[in-house]
Amino acid sequence: MNILLLGSGGREHALAWKLRQSSLCKNLFIAPGNAGTATVGTNINIGVNDFAAIEKAVTEHEIKLIVVGPEEPLVNGVYDHFKNNKNIIVVGPSKNGAQLEGSKAFSKHFMQRHNIPTAGYAEFTRENFEEGKQYIRNHSLPIVLKADGLAAGKGVVIAPTQEEALSTFEEMIINEQFGKASSKVVIEEFLQGIEVSVFALTDGNDYKIIGHAKDYKRIGEGDTGLNTGGMGCVTPVPFMDNAFMKKVEEKIIRPTINGLHQENIEYYGFVFFGLMNCSGEPYVIEYNCRMGDPETEVVMPRLKNDLAELFLAMHKGRLDEVNIEYDERSIATIVAVSGGYPGDYEKNKQISGLSNKQPADSIIFHAGTKLEADSVLTNGGRVLAVTSYGNSITEAVERSKEVLSGLSFEGMNYRKDIGYEFR
Ligand code: AMP
Ligand code: GLY
Repeated sequence: MNILLLGSGGREHALAWKLRQSSLCKNLFIAPGNAGTATVGTNINIGVNDFAAIEKAVTEHEIKLIVVGPEEPLVNGVYDHFKNNKNIIVVGPSKNGAQLEGSKAFSKHFMQRHNIPTAGYAEFTRENFEEGKQYIRNHSLPIVLKADGLAAGKGVVIAPTQEEALSTFEEMIINEQFGKASSKVVIEEFLQGIEVSVFALTDGNDYKIIGHAKDYKRIGEGDTGLNTGGMGCVTPVPFMDNAFMKKVEEKIIRPTINGLHQENIEYYGFVFFGLMNCSGEPYVIEYNCRMGDPETEVVMPRLKNDLAELFLAMHKGRLDEVNIEYDERSIATIVAVSGGYPGDYEKNKQISGLSNKQPADSIIFHAGTKLEADSVLTNGGRVLAVTSYGNSITEAVERSKEVLSGLSFEGMNYRKDIGYEFR
């Protein structure tokens, strides 16, 4: 069958790389894609939120399966747009289901209704702003403030003092820092622990866990400096043993899927559980309605199953018949970013070294890149994600570092300590 993948980041290159290996995949199209996806399929220059243009491409290229990479088209209802066309399978939740990511207040209410462990919280708008200030004054430190809606990954602030929390709160609600997305703010307890991302594929009734990863979000080594989209990942994570996974499934994943089912929320797609391991007990920090980036760049290489077959099993309600198989090796990815990221950065820098012969156990996934004539240029903050297999996390990380030492672009920066706690 012909497949259309929406998105243009490292996550999409990894998904495209995986779909290309499927025996069911005839032609693979990526909209809009990047220089990396162009090596495994055909890029088409359409924005992920341009549903009319996507519909046209679906007809023109006889697409049977649409795989949605980023959250925005899901929150905007791409699933619902194609729902009545029975010839097309969309991998992703309905607009309603995407609220798990699209509204922090929705997801907190959902967790409360289904007794899913998460940080205690309250929500505020302009109407009860003064009450919110009082709530902050009485809150333990640090205080976590979250803009309700999508804010391009910038909507969460961890305030170390009441003063900072109060000014952030005012900035979000009164000064509309994120527009409508911050007209409502969730204030929650700070959870102390180690973060881990767990991924499931669900049909809204049944599910299969397809992997997990530890993401390194801060720009600086030793987890210092500003938050980014993710600077690197490792999998499998040593503390994700059977005992912990059992708790994650019983306390979080099963109740979440049961909740979707009970509330008649249509959901055929990925659920990303952003978890905190608090002294051996899992709590949900956030849900996302998509795969993670750069988590996908290690989760897809670890997954042995045919991805398009998994999507068909999901569509047919047959996930229970699927047996998930993993590569036994450790896998790490390290993200090379533009100088200045996560602040302002320049684009259009020539990337050199991509045509060097690369080791067999490494894969260079493109994130923010584009093709111009015969050159590959930088086109975003996160530029490349270099993934490697190894017999240990240390070996995998060292291999990726070796590959990165042969790649360059002006201002290139990457963390050399990915996986440091496990090495
Ligand atoms: P998000 O934008 O929802 O991914 O949140 C960004 C980051 O903020 C998360 O990855 C966590 O590191 C951190 N975070 C969010 N909520 C909490 C919380 N309640 N306690 C501690 N850290 C949190
Ligand atoms: N790496 C975290 C995310 O994709 O949201």
